[in-house]
Amino acid sequence: MIDQLNKLRDEALAELSSIHDLGELEVWRVKYLGKKGALTAMLRQLGTLSPEERPAVGQAANQVKARLESQFAEKEAELQQAARALAMERERVDVTLPGRPLALGQLHPTTRVLKEILDAFVTMGFQVVEGPEVEWDYYNFEALNIPKDHPARDMWDTFYVSMDGKPGEMLLRTHTSPNQVRVMEKTRPPVRVIVPGKCYRYEAIDPSHESMFYQVEGLAIDENITFADMKGTLSAFARMLFGQDRKVRFRCDYFPFVEPGVDMSIDCYVCKGAGCRLCGSTGWLEIMGAGMVHPKELERVGYDPSVYSGFAFGLGPERIAMLKSGIDDIRLFYSNDLRFLRQFR
Ligand code: DAH
Repeated sequence: MIDQLNKLRDEALAELSSIHDLGELEVWRVKYLGKKGALTAMLRQLGTLSPEERPAVGQAANQVKARLESQFAEKEAELQQAARALAMERERVDVTLPGRPLALGQLHPTTRVLKEILDAFVTMGFQVVEGPEVEWDYYNFEALNIPKDHPARDMWDTFYVSMDGKPGEMLLRTHTSPNQVRVMEKTRPPVRVIVPGKCYRYEAIDPSHESMFYQVEGLAIDENITFADMKGTLSAFARMLFGQDRKVRFRCDYFPFVEPGVDMSIDCYVCKGAGCRLCGSTGWLEIMGAGMVHPKELERVGYDPSVYSGFAFGLGPERIAMLKSGIDDIRLFYSNDLRFLRQFR
């Protein structure tokens, strides 16, 4: 029986050494040390031995049992340790991995150039104000010397809003100029304001015409403001945006609310006036309309034209952005194409 015990021990230990996980180890424990296990069965047979044989065999059996139990405990500890290490390895976080990039928003190209334009005028003492996009016919036209049936209305066709079933009195403003009147009605001179905002026109859409676009209006009224003040202010602005070496040109133009009226150009900064594709071979780029505020407009808001005078101007930020960034189609601004918008970071 001692031989049998030793054989059982050797078998059990050999098997134990080839075990690699806790599941197999449990099977092994049940097989040898469990209640119905091989060693337990042999221990039960001790009772059948003669009293002479019993002590030696009993001692041998206990040694085998102790050996298997201690080997089992050792193996179990070893496998548990390995399992813990594996679990830790699986949960490991690699803190050196670069993070996923966040999708950052950015300012729209119109907003960017608007900020630049406003900053330039704020530096020169102008205050930023805003006015309504849905406007009365009176402010958009009448108060700007554009009465009903005046041919100048053809320059500004728009979308009309019907009021109590009566079309015609309210409209989407075609320019920011109505705010000249709104500001003057509410304040006394001196006035120095700049008015950014959206405008709308009933347009045949093409690369240089949109039905929605922005404008920036400017107005300066005081005693003794002259055409020279206008030229100085607008030239300073053009040089802030397009470079200190810009030349400027003022030519006569017609806007019913100013007299005289002008359009202002800068010399083409690509060809320096020699003529190129950007300036259509003219050497000049038109950037805004302007003029001395019409005396009738001043009278209408109760400003005495023999005391007060001033200048007004209007420009399109999309056009400024197009010139600055070489954009050749105004429709790109509001067609929500991310490939276009992402270029302005
Ligand atoms: N409101 C004009 C337009 O939309 C632009 C303009 C021209 C504004 C001359 C002015 C000005 O204030 O003096 O075409």
